[in-house]
Amino acid sequence: RIAAPVIAIDGPSASGKGTVAQRVAETLGFHFLDSGALYRLTALAALRAGVALDDETGVAAVAATLPAEFPGDRILLAGDDVTEAIRAEEIGVGASKVAALPAVRTALLERQRAYRRLPGLVADGRDMGSVVFPEAPVKVFLTASAEARAERRHKQLIGKGMPANMRPLLQDILQELRERDARDAARSVAPLKQEEDAELVDTTPLGIDEAVAAVLDIVRRKLPQVVS
Ligand code: CDP
Ligand code: CDP
Repeated sequence: RIAAPVIAIDGPSASGKGTVAQRVAETLGFHFLDSGALYRLTALAALRAGVALDDETGVAAVAATLPAEFPGDRILLAGDDVTEAIRAEEIGVGASKVAALPAVRTALLERQRAYRRLPGLVADGRDMGSVVFPEAPVKVFLTASAEARAERRHKQLIGKGMPANMRPLLQDILQELRERDARDAARSVAPLKQEEDAELVDTTPLGIDEAVAAVLDIVRRKLPQVVS
């Protein structure tokens, strides 16, 4: 039996992981796993169920029975379309809190591994190359300066049509991003860090097309049989 190859893309918030991973998956015809969405869904489901985000047993039970579905490009929680709702920065912060609880990570582990199917998988998150798919033949650590990442999030809010008087200041986005990165890097389980066998791609000076090309170059080198 041939094991499906995994391309693991990890990195901090707004480094471009999701966008780049999705594009690489489309290019190769591979499956795609947005592992952060599972942590975001867990945080949202816990909040909706009135479970405190520091109640490890309670949140792990929510994660283990998460009624999530992914039809097309939508994300449903108990049938409710939460595609946009889970992208709120407060849900990102909640995700980062529940993600620090070991029992929650364990509860989501098999669900993530089930995405590994032929012809292959592109997975993005924080621990794709370290914990979930440690044997992945391609590991990328995608990053960018905190300032560039804050600019991207700010632009995204403008792009979504958020009125100026409701939009957080760039400096507040930067501060929140730094706090979330620090929590993700400081936790005892699956901390955010570049693995020794992961290739660094710094997207600070790169546009999306260039970042996708940089990752595809690495794939071509490591998995010559899958890219022409
Ligand atoms: O998944 P992650 O939080 O790492 O980032 P993302 O949501 O894919 O990207 C955040 C924003 O940065 C998106 O609006 C991307 O279009 C943008 N981006 C960019 O401007 N330049 C890049 N090289 C990569 C992403
Ligand atoms: O898009 P962005 O990078 O801002 O966030 P995300 O990838 O959706 O992840 C949200 C939060 O979930 C992160 O801040 C991490 O704390 C957590 N996470 C994780 O611990 N492990 C993963 N594999 C993916 C996300």
